[in-house]
Amino acid sequence: MRKNIVAGNWKMNKNLQEGIQLAKELNEALKGKSLNCDVIVGTPFIHLASVAEAVDTNKIGVAAQNCADKESGAYTGEVSSEMVASTGAKYVILGHSERRAYYHETPEILKEKVLLALKNDLTPIFCIGEVLEERESEKHFEVVKSQIEASLFELSPEDFSKIVLAYEPVWAIGTGKTASPEQAQEMHAFIRKTLVEKYGKEIADNTSILYGGSANAGNAKELFSNPDVDGGLIGGASLSVDKFMPIIEAF
Ligand code: 13P
Repeated sequence: MRKNIVAGNWKMNKNLQEGIQLAKELNEALKGKSLNCDVIVGTPFIHLASVAEAVDTNKIGVAAQNCADKESGAYTGEVSSEMVASTGAKYVILGHSERRAYYHETPEILKEKVLLALKNDLTPIFCIGEVLEERESEKHFEVVKSQIEASLFELSPEDFSKIVLAYEPVWAIGTGKTASPEQAQEMHAFIRKTLVEKYGKEIADNTSILYGGSANAGNAKELFSNPDVDGGLIGGASLSVDKFMPIIEAF
């Protein structure tokens, strides 16, 4: 069966020392606890190796927040999937709305990134989600479906079964305005139905679909209690152990 996952996305926060400190505190807080979910932290590139070294990676998976759409070579400033994997990271967040919006990542670019991540044995945490106008004009289902189709539906069933999805309505990210549990469940069920149609029930049932967007200690339990919500991708509330632990323990 699919896994429950609580993943933090630190975004562009914490210098190296602060990041190592946070990772160590989380590692300490998780010691001796039996959890009902996998825990992941998504750190800036430069933190990956140190964080992977500082934590028990059997308990805390480490994720990059991006990787290059090219394998290697003259791409100044880029970081390849192979480099990410060589740090000990096992995951990579791809297609985050901030990267789509601010860095012009297209579905085609994301398709390449997903392929390279898989080639290097990284699990993509692939983000999808509509902006406010799309929801208000009732295009949200269509938008999310086309984001999935355009970047992921050429994958073989075997490769697709390695993907984790994260539904992050853009209007809920960093706004304090969470999707209601009903809105989250409705979209997650729709996503799963879309996966059933393409890859069949078994693969769809085994795909973890996380919710992201102003998730916090106060709303996590209700969000996670929905049958198709398999965890969360947490931004702001992943930046301190006090706020992140109760979300992990909401499972
Ligand atoms: P917030 O939890 O800060 O709204 O961010 C969500 C997010 O974008 C995680 O990737």
